[in-house]
Amino acid sequence: MPRPGTIHPMPAPLFADLAPAPPDSILGLTETFRADRRPGKISLAAGVYLDETGRTPIPPTVVEAERRILATDTTKVYKPIAGDPAFTNPVRALVFGPDHPALAEGRVEGLHTPGGTGALRVAADLVHRLRPGATVWLSEPTWPNHPQVFEAAGLAVRRYPYLDLTTGGLDLARMLGALDRAARGDVVVLHACCHNPTGIDPTPDAWTRIADLVALRRLLPLLDFAYQGFGDGLAEDATGLRAMTGPGITLLVASSFSKNFALYAERVGALLIHGATADEAAALLSHAKAVVRANYSNPPAHGGEIVATILGDPTLRARWVDEVAVMRGRINGNRARFVDGLRAAGVAGGPGARLDADALLRQRGMFSLLGLSSGQVARLRDEFAVYVVGGGRINVAGLTDANLEPACAAIAAVLRG
Ligand SMILES: Cc1ncc(COP(=O)(O)O)c(C=O)c1O
Repeated sequence: MPRPGTIHPMPAPLFADLAPAPPDSILGLTETFRADRRPGKISLAAGVYLDETGRTPIPPTVVEAERRILATDTTKVYKPIAGDPAFTNPVRALVFGPDHPALAEGRVEGLHTPGGTGALRVAADLVHRLRPGATVWLSEPTWPNHPQVFEAAGLAVRRYPYLDLTTGGLDLARMLGALDRAARGDVVVLHACCHNPTGIDPTPDAWTRIADLVALRRLLPLLDFAYQGFGDGLAEDATGLRAMTGPGITLLVASSFSKNFALYAERVGALLIHGATADEAAALLSHAKAVVRANYSNPPAHGGEIVATILGDPTLRARWVDEVAVMRGRINGNRARFVDGLRAAGVAGGPGARLDADALLRQRGMFSLLGLSSGQVARLRDEFAVYVVGGGRINVAGLTDANLEPACAAIAAVLRG
């Protein structure tokens, strides 16, 4: 023990040999794009909705809800661990559909979480608390944050085939074959709609077959519902969810309001628990609350209050439904224009074309997966200043009148090699 007051040489830092962690594969790309000084650079990488001017605006209903909240809020006191019922009740109805029988039977519980990522992490911690040996099955490919979230919670992660490279569609037979080998109680993560990154969703018939297998093998489905309303409509995009909620099924849903309310930075989402019985749902909720208490304690108020204000007022809600329709319309219109652009550049449709125009047009949501090699993605960035995510995932909402033609020309150039 050194004597007090003795002077010692500076000790080596505790983390002296620590190598920096790699940047996030998607958010890191945004940072590189910002630092890129080339004029005419194009980013189709980030997973946020962009309007024709390349901005992500605050929807007018959100502005109006914030005005009302500011005028009436009198306290910043903690929210309940699971959030306000004024938030969770309308959210349950939005996600499941107001007439879903499980709602009337008291079999759906909800927690307000910090974003969809927060909902996924609470779900992961909940599974780890109840079944630490469970394996989490993720689609191949999937959103790169999925494996990180489940592994961080201490769960083992495996993959099931999803994308059929020959047809550009869903490889249902191989997907079901892999899930048939999952153990009872394993978790299957499914993208409820607008699969990220492929844009390929199961057909209603495929959803039924997935639901049958999940029930037969006694698996725990976890639906990641980050893009409700961006595919075919708010209710239409819940087709898979409704197929999965058969009798006797326990199901978790991680909803995000980052995209459909454009509340990205407010961090607002929900974990919904569909129990086989009301008692099971209530017991699962109590464990989920214990998980939340030991993590972030209770949810951030503001984003949830905005969603509650909009969903709780019929006029505001109707206006918000229209706002979602405008975003969806732009996304779907852009996809069609993008495919036309690739056709005009000679790389989609027609004999010998490198991309299947029909398969691209069947994709849903903000993303389109072009199936590019890492070399082609690097060439797009280095030679053409066009930023896309690995595998050639592009955000079609990022296309504008100004950048569509150069983006298609650059993609055509790298595809030709
Ligand atoms: C598939 C998927 N799940 C979840 C999320 C999480 O969204 P949030 O920003 O609400 O955490 C995203 C966001 O990009 C996503 O693409």
